[in-house]
Amino acid sequence: MAFDRSLKIAPSILAADFAAFGAEIDAVEAEGADWIHVDVMDGHFVPNISFGATTCAAIRPHIKTVMDVHLMIAPVDPYIDGFVEAGADVITAHVEAGPHIHRTLQAIRRAGVKAGVALNPGTPASAVEELLDAVDLVCVMTVNPGFGGQSFIDMTSKIRTLRAMIGDRPIHIEVDGGVTAKTAPLVAAAGADVLVAGSAVFKGGSATQPAPYGENIRAIRSACA
Ligand code: DX5
Ligand code: ZN
Repeated sequence: MAFDRSLKIAPSILAADFAAFGAEIDAVEAEGADWIHVDVMDGHFVPNISFGATTCAAIRPHIKTVMDVHLMIAPVDPYIDGFVEAGADVITAHVEAGPHIHRTLQAIRRAGVKAGVALNPGTPASAVEELLDAVDLVCVMTVNPGFGGQSFIDMTSKIRTLRAMIGDRPIHIEVDGGVTAKTAPLVAAAGADVLVAGSAVFKGGSATQPAPYGENIRAIRSACA
């Protein structure tokens, strides 16, 4: 996984057909997805349960791009090994998930996986200032995590602050929640390079009728150009 700041669209499979993850991933990658965003929710850190490491391992063979695992769970540390073994390329934990986020990030990196840190909308950019040498990605949540299909919360000034703070470090800025062809240009201009989009990518299509996935991805990409 070589580092670059080109724009990457990461469809969230939270908006895909849960009974057909493999076919959905094959379809959305064929239609131009750059990364696949995998949302893990525990019903404790966030008020919803999605799936865990077993599902991640099952879908891994379908992901030819990058498996970007977003852990909305607390605690994180007892489950890291499971997601590493499942084949994640990036594992992101929330800065709000516990008092020892630095230890969590160290454990992810020690396992040979890229480490990400996510910030809820209510958490300031300064919360990750002392973590920048321990991370490969900062995820700025533009919704309160837990559900797909929510409206975008404007965090562009936080993204700008982070972009300046990061400087030349090889750290991705990812934006997650309510990203559409309308909101994408705002966050891309502020300095984000990985755009997660669930509903905006999967709307109107299916694994057997995947053309809309490609149209939706291209609409987001060209809105940012
Ligand atoms: C929210 C998840 C997001 C979500 C994005 O808790 O972390 O990744 O699936 O979905 P949309 O793009 O529909 O807001
Ligand atoms: Zn997510």
